[in-house]
Amino acid sequence: MKTEIINFKIESLDSLGQGVSKIDDKITFIPKSLPGEEGQALVVGKKKGIQFAKVTALSKPSDHREEPACQHFDECSGCDFLHTNYEMELKTKQASFERLLSYSPFKNTPVTVHGAPTRIGYRNRIQLHYDLKRKTLGFHKAKSNHIAEVPGCLLPSLKIQESLKALYEDQAWIKNAPSDAPLNGHLELYELNNEVLCVWNENYAAAGFSQVNKVMNDLALQIWKEFYDSCESIGSVYDVFGGSGNLTRNFTESKISIFDNFCDKSKLSEHQKFIKTDLYKSPKVPDSPADLIIFDPPRSGFKETAEWLNDLEPRYVGYQSCFSDTMVRDLKKIAPHFEAISIHLLDFFPGTHHYESIIFLKNNRLK
Ligand SMILES: C[S@@+](CC[C@H](N)C(=O)[O-])C[C@H]1O[C@@H](n2cnc3c(N)ncnc32)[C@H](O)[C@@H]1O
Repeated sequence: MKTEIINFKIESLDSLGQGVSKIDDKITFIPKSLPGEEGQALVVGKKKGIQFAKVTALSKPSDHREEPACQHFDECSGCDFLHTNYEMELKTKQASFERLLSYSPFKNTPVTVHGAPTRIGYRNRIQLHYDLKRKTLGFHKAKSNHIAEVPGCLLPSLKIQESLKALYEDQAWIKNAPSDAPLNGHLELYELNNEVLCVWNENYAAAGFSQVNKVMNDLALQIWKEFYDSCESIGSVYDVFGGSGNLTRNFTESKISIFDNFCDKSKLSEHQKFIKTDLYKSPKVPDSPADLIIFDPPRSGFKETAEWLNDLEPRYVGYQSCFSDTMVRDLKKIAPHFEAISIHLLDFFPGTHHYESIIFLKNNRLK
């Protein structure tokens, strides 16, 4: 690609945390820039009518700009917001969630925002890409298949940070690679019982899903419990994409059916029953109803949400998601007698553009 330098002026941030500049009707997305900033950027990619660029010089920095805590921030695509203060990060996430909700039946329900106590050192699991030919290990660079090396990454817990550094020392990771490892792949470092395990080329969270940010997960559980306690007589609960029963462990007054394709049964309590099912291959609506139905799917969401709710008519509903686009898509189609009680944004992933959200609903047809 021919080298092309453009002048930019950032108007706003998009939902990925990228600056948006519109000059001569050409829309340019520029990561790691801030509203009001001006300068020059190198074009790194083009698509129909839009282009992507990387800041090369800032002539007018924003008052909200900060020195990033992480030395790799400029090159790495893992974090999006470490060049600004946390207040700005949270406001951007809230604005992008509210933009989505404004096209939904829940547009009039206010969003309660729950910020995180720490912006770094919170992940109990990270996944890195490797390239054995180029001898690189790390996260992808923005708009590139090349890997940015991140020995000083600050996102994971201190224990994982230490293990990560050790992997890079004298390229120890190359010596540790299994003999049958493909030339390109990934490895996952995760903390379990105070130890850090390193797993090569397994599916994400192959040993069972667990939320990556413990402090924020504890806060989510508290919010779920308050909601549960506010509901009247909940005999039965469907915990759909319930994993090992994280969200419903404290719902001890009810009978819980957990629908998932994987569950660590040693984590279940007596009131929780596991129903093994592949919900994407066989999303059939269950025969019997439940008082409360909870959904917590992966990023792709669950397109059958409306069918389940409109057929089963639960009295209450809760939907938690790490990708609000699919959550809003799934809930848009539900019958209008399901009304929002409250909506929450929980910042499970500070520093990045990702966040967790929860919508609680009640069925106004059944009092
Ligand atoms: C975001 S996690 C939520 C898990 C649980 N609610 C929690 O808080 O720990 C999504 C869950 O979807 C499950 N899952 C992914 N694909 C699935 C499928 N095809 N069928 C059933 N469950 C699936 C995963 O095993 C995982 O437990």
